[in-house]
Amino acid sequence: MLQQFKTIGETALAHLRRVNDLDALEQFRIKYLGRRGEITQMLNRLGSLPPEERPAAGRLANQIKKDVTAQYQRLRHQLQQQRRRQTAHLVDVTLPGKIPLIGTPHIITQTINELLDIFGRMGFSVAYGPEVEDEWHNFVALNIPPEHPARDPADNFYIEHDVLLRTQTSTIQIRVMENTRPPIRVVAPGRVYRPDTVDATHMFMFYQLEALVVDEGITMVDMKTTIDQFIKAFLGPETKWRFRPSFFPFTEPSAEVDLLLADKHGKEDWVEMGGCGMVDPNVFEAVGIDSEKYTGWAFGFGIERLAMRKHGITDIRLFFENDLRFLRQF
Ligand code: DAH
Repeated sequence: MLQQFKTIGETALAHLRRVNDLDALEQFRIKYLGRRGEITQMLNRLGSLPPEERPAAGRLANQIKKDVTAQYQRLRHQLQQQRRRQTAHLVDVTLPGKIPLIGTPHIITQTINELLDIFGRMGFSVAYGPEVEDEWHNFVALNIPPEHPARDPADNFYIEHDVLLRTQTSTIQIRVMENTRPPIRVVAPGRVYRPDTVDATHMFMFYQLEALVVDEGITMVDMKTTIDQFIKAFLGPETKWRFRPSFFPFTEPSAEVDLLLADKHGKEDWVEMGGCGMVDPNVFEAVGIDSEKYTGWAFGFGIERLAMRKHGITDIRLFFENDLRFLRQF
């Protein structure tokens, strides 16, 4: 009996040495270790042995099962690893793909692109300037004297003496005129900073689009026509707007541009979009452009306001909260 057991064990191990793939290994398992396998049956037969033979036979049978099972598991592990290595380079094209989360440009970025596009078609080039500015570019060259209330430290984000976060993109007008001679036709988008109390229409940081045109013989007609063309291209040909007399130190005369907006009950009202005017001769003097020879106009419009008007957005804070439910609408 013991000899029979040993033979079964040796045959099994010899068989296992010839196995070289997982299918053959499964055949092996069924033949020896499965419910009706030879080793399983060998163990079942122990019960029918005479009691005095059982302990030795039992020990041998269990040892054989243990050895064969251990060899079987080692080989299975090896073959699985081998299969993984062989198939690692294969891609199963039938598996469902991973869908990447695709973002979109922020609505402000989209709006700026659209604005630059419209002005690009009208022959404007694009300029940029630093957000950290000195008083010369933010105030002095723009004809804003030291005693002017706009220079109050409480109304500005000063970083140190003579260094502040710009409060207006008009700074870029100065930088452009310092570096180029007329004819000039530029638009300049960018962030500006003011210590305003935040509410639905105010933010401590927002975007402006600045425009500057300087050449011989430029008049207010050029300004009005350009603004009109721009508003109609951006907001639609039916859009109503008006000039309202105003004052800015760097323009003379100055005006504010109002858009006629309907609220959700259909009630219309004028909403300010920004300022504009004919460049003040003092500004030309500051940058060394001959104010007898050249004239020009400029504007600075709020980009959020334009986007709000276009898309029916009623709260400026939505632009900066980064709530995907809002951002994904654009
Ligand atoms: N810089 C002004 C502001 O932030 C807006 C402005 C008014 C810009 C008149 C201009 C301008 O270029 O001509 O309130």
